[in-house]
Amino acid sequence: MSQTVKGVISRSKKAPTEVVDVVIPDPGARDVVVAIKACGVCHTDLAYREGGINDEYPFLLGHEAAGVVESVGSDVTHVEVGDFVVLNWRAVCGQCRACKRGRPWYCFDTFNASVPMTLTDGTELTPALGIGAFAEKTLIHELQCTKVNPETDPAVAGLLGCGVMAGLGAAMNTGNVGRGDSVAVIGCGGVGDAAIAGARLAGATKIIAIDRDAAKLEWAKDLGATHTINGSEVDDVVTAVQDLTDGFGVDVVVDAVGRPETYKQAFYARDLAGVVVLVGVPTPEMTLEMPLVDFFSRGGALKSSWYGDCLPERDFPMLVDLYEQGRLPLEKFVTERIGLNDIEAAFEAMHAGKVLRSVVEI
Ligand SMILES: NC(=O)c1ccc[n+]([C@@H]2O[C@H](COP(=O)([O-])OP(=O)(O)OC[C@H]3O[C@@H](n4cnc5c(N)ncnc54)[C@H](O)[C@@H]3O)[C@@H](O)[C@H]2O)c1
Ligand SMILES: [Zn+2]
Ligand SMILES: [Zn+2]
Repeated sequence: MSQTVKGVISRSKKAPTEVVDVVIPDPGARDVVVAIKACGVCHTDLAYREGGINDEYPFLLGHEAAGVVESVGSDVTHVEVGDFVVLNWRAVCGQCRACKRGRPWYCFDTFNASVPMTLTDGTELTPALGIGAFAEKTLIHELQCTKVNPETDPAVAGLLGCGVMAGLGAAMNTGNVGRGDSVAVIGCGGVGDAAIAGARLAGATKIIAIDRDAAKLEWAKDLGATHTINGSEVDDVVTAVQDLTDGFGVDVVVDAVGRPETYKQAFYARDLAGVVVLVGVPTPEMTLEMPLVDFFSRGGALKSSWYGDCLPERDFPMLVDLYEQGRLPLEKFVTERIGLNDIEAAFEAMHAGKVLRSVVEI
């Protein structure tokens, strides 16, 4: 039987979000209903609300979540009722050109639920990133669920569903940071700090945090930065990085801001043949002009990181285990715990730079 639950929607461009009744239909053959326990507030939710992703309103927001499987469709084998799961937006399809070439972390054709969630008047909802988890329950494809250690705090586990995974993976997967590497991270919000934590976990010995906000740099140190640079206090960020690395620059720079000026800093703050990882998301009007010869003469690799090149089934259980063993301080990303009615305030706190993550608990 379909059921009605509370969920947070965005009805039209720039309008504030609303808590409304959402109808969860019976799961299709490979769908599952998940009772959400916690869901982090991500920039992408705000971008949906503001029309920055597409205009398929109304959106059911929220996508960085953990919960418990409540019911399953007739053909579901991947999870069972009662499983504690982290939700993901890369349910590897196995069929697309990336999957067929053995690069499933690029999967271009993720699975989503086969039937839509709606408002009580039948209006179809577009779930954010195919998830929609600012809600008591949501409907997703079975492969959008990854089982993890059920002892874990849902507010912590759910973070792996988006931003924190993106940052950890930007350093560990895309940047392939290894033992003894030097790393710089530009922008120390939730994503950049996760890149710092990932660089530490991967064995980097010098980790330089760069931000324009002194408070953010303190958090970055707490997560593993060995050095900090306040971009609003130095003349030139690139020179400041070189000063900390015998004049050479670092092996890997993660740009977790995604603006032309930060990308340029990332490009020149590398050692020769170093790697740039762009994980911050630029907006369509941004452009960058640079001498082509510098691309040749500096060598190395310029990469972008989509969702930290993660494979949920490989990475989520491993990272939860490392957290449970005290080797990855994921709890430090949970700045505040809020309710479904507090999403607008959380967007403001995010905008003002007061939080790494606000997490809705249900
Ligand atoms: N690639 C992906 O898969 C993926 C996934 C999730 C989020 N993101 C993106 O990652 C980016 C960061 O997300 P977040 O949640 O950490 O954001 P955030 O706003 O919490 O953090 C951004 C940080 O950058 C700092 N900053 C801004 N301009 C700067 C500058 N010029 N120099 C130095 N620091 C500067 C801010 O002070 C802030 O601390 C966003 O663009 C977000 O959309 C990407
Ligand atoms: Zn695929
Ligand atoms: Zn997100």
